[in-house]
Amino acid sequence: MNTLMIDEQEKLHIAADILKNGGLVAVPTETVYGLAANALDEHAVSNIYKAKGRPSDNPLILHIADLEMLKPLVAHIPDSATLLMKHFWPGPLTLIFESSSLVPLSVRGGLSTVAIRFPSHPTIQSLIKMTGLPLAAPSANLSGKPSPTNAKRVFEDLNGKIDAIVDGGLSTVGVESTIVDLTSEVPTILRPGGITEAMLHEVLGDIIMDPALLSVESNVKPKAPGMKYTHYSPNADVIIYKGEDDNVVLAINEQLSEDNLHNICSGVLCDDETKALFNAEYIISLGSRNHPDDIAMNLFEALRSFDDLHVQKVYSLSFSTEGVGSAIMNRLEKSAGHHINYV
Ligand code: TXA
Ligand code: MG
Repeated sequence: MNTLMIDEQEKLHIAADILKNGGLVAVPTETVYGLAANALDEHAVSNIYKAKGRPSDNPLILHIADLEMLKPLVAHIPDSATLLMKHFWPGPLTLIFESSSLVPLSVRGGLSTVAIRFPSHPTIQSLIKMTGLPLAAPSANLSGKPSPTNAKRVFEDLNGKIDAIVDGGLSTVGVESTIVDLTSEVPTILRPGGITEAMLHEVLGDIIMDPALLSVESNVKPKAPGMKYTHYSPNADVIIYKGEDDNVVLAINEQLSEDNLHNICSGVLCDDETKALFNAEYIISLGSRNHPDDIAMNLFEALRSFDDLHVQKVYSLSFSTEGVGSAIMNRLEKSAGHHINYV
């Protein structure tokens, strides 16, 4: 199949027609690009799983573009949801509800619950309105790869496997939406993202983190099925260094000299404050540590850039876990397969 690139707003109706006919279209959202299909068409949804190579027990998020679209998809709307929707929709927040029978089981990975998000990006909003359909959309990467934050990365992963890609520039949040489960006794964060724990706490009061997120060694099964899979991995081995700046710089530089002796191509993932301190051929700064939003926005693209450079080992700084930092470190630690050196 030839994948069509749609880079003009005036051609959005082509994408809408493809979606209405059961096709697959990658679309920009404010978090990352999504691979969209009609959420109520089981055949279209099964093609999403095929194109991504995604395990069928990993449910998809349904995207809506006004609150009226929510009612038919869920069994009921708890007060906690009404509060969160008022504060954070449209935006990078996904809510888990008890599902209605309208949502096919295959979209939900066989669960009784359904994940719903009202994104703020105008392009996906327009497509939902033009089609009148809830759009199921996982991140538009091959399963296991870092999520794409621009159309070029979607093309690299999915060219020939999907009908079209809508190019809407950069996804500015850069990490996937925060997922909050409202079906448990206390609202629970299943995946950290752009809407932080503190922001949720301010609105809801009680909110907890899924225990599976808190401990690397934990054998607790995460409640978001997707969080159990290896994720966000570039081809290179990623190793995170934790400790005082001076110690981290010293330890990474020692490792770089050693790699050099063995002809191993290695790179460093760091921030503006430290980028001048490393003796590596490939150094990528994610931005200033004073601007964690930039660090989040640039993270996945940086991981993919190391692959372009055929880097074999990436040594990374550990970033602050304040605010969006919790999402940054969640993704980075997964990309490193939890390989962390404490120095
Ligand atoms: O920002 C985002 O959320 C992006 C954009 C495209 O909207 N989408 C995204 O989708 O990240 P995906 O499929 O890559 O991740 C969805 C996550 C998975 O970890 C999945 O297991 C979880 O949501 N999930 C979906 N439905 C669920 C449910 N009913 N209960 C618990 N977790 C669920
Ligand atoms: Mg994903």
